[in-house]
Amino acid sequence: MSNELPCFDVLPQHIAVIMDGNGRWAKQRGLERTEGHKAGAENFRRIVDYASRLGIKYMTFYAFSTENWKRPEFEVKTIMNLIRKYLKEMQLREAENEASGYNIHFIGNREGLDDDIVKLFNTVEKRSSKHNKTYVNIAVNYGGREEITHSVRVLCEKVKNGELISSDITENTVASYLYTAGQPDPDLIIRPSGEQRLSNFLIWQAAYSEFWYSDVLWPDFNEQELNRALEDYAHRHRRFGGI
Ligand code: IPE
Ligand code: IPE
Ligand code: MG
Repeated sequence: MSNELPCFDVLPQHIAVIMDGNGRWAKQRGLERTEGHKAGAENFRRIVDYASRLGIKYMTFYAFSTENWKRPEFEVKTIMNLIRKYLKEMQLREAENEASGYNIHFIGNREGLDDDIVKLFNTVEKRSSKHNKTYVNIAVNYGGREEITHSVRVLCEKVKNGELISSDITENTVASYLYTAGQPDPDLIIRPSGEQRLSNFLIWQAAYSEFWYSDVLWPDFNEQELNRALEDYAHRHRRFGGI
């Protein structure tokens, strides 16, 4: 690929990606599903780098859902180990991170995750918090319904303690206790692998997102595929209920 970057008429401020199709990618090659997750993790790095070079300011990647615990123990363990490996590498590549300017944030319920992973989340978030070139959310043990439930629970506590009265609760109040508080909603949600559903991803934030689906499996979702999605997005007419 040449170093020249394409230019789009309109670039989304926030893209969200459902990294789906790892298992099928491996199966097509006669490999174990876990090999697909390894290839998917590599591709995640590649696409983050590329999208950042294009100038996309916010990105959210769905890595593990609250429903993915239903999978065989070995598969869950492999995915968690890949997350661990990525986090440890992030710690080692301080200089590189400095240059790329990624501000990394983990969204999802941290209860239920191994303590060492939660610790690594905290370290990586803390170290990258001074950067503001590209904001990267990684969704681990994330479920949109869990996220909204969590926000509601926090608000109920506040009402109970007298910090808030229920009639003061607005959409913004609810949003301010979501894991994505303070960030713009995704403009474009991309799902490879042929599935056309949200699978509990950003269900609150997706209210007015544009969708883009592709049959390509996530490990094969390359720069050209992202360009196709962005090119398509640039010609969408977003109305937000208006005319
Ligand atoms: C996405 O790929 C990764 C996770 C859900 C963790 P899949 O593992 O769902 O791949 P398919 O959908 O079975 O091909
Ligand atoms: C969504 O993919 C979750 C992630 C990509 C992390 P799934 O493979 O879990 O979704 P379903 O089960 O096909 O809806
Ligand atoms: Mg899947």
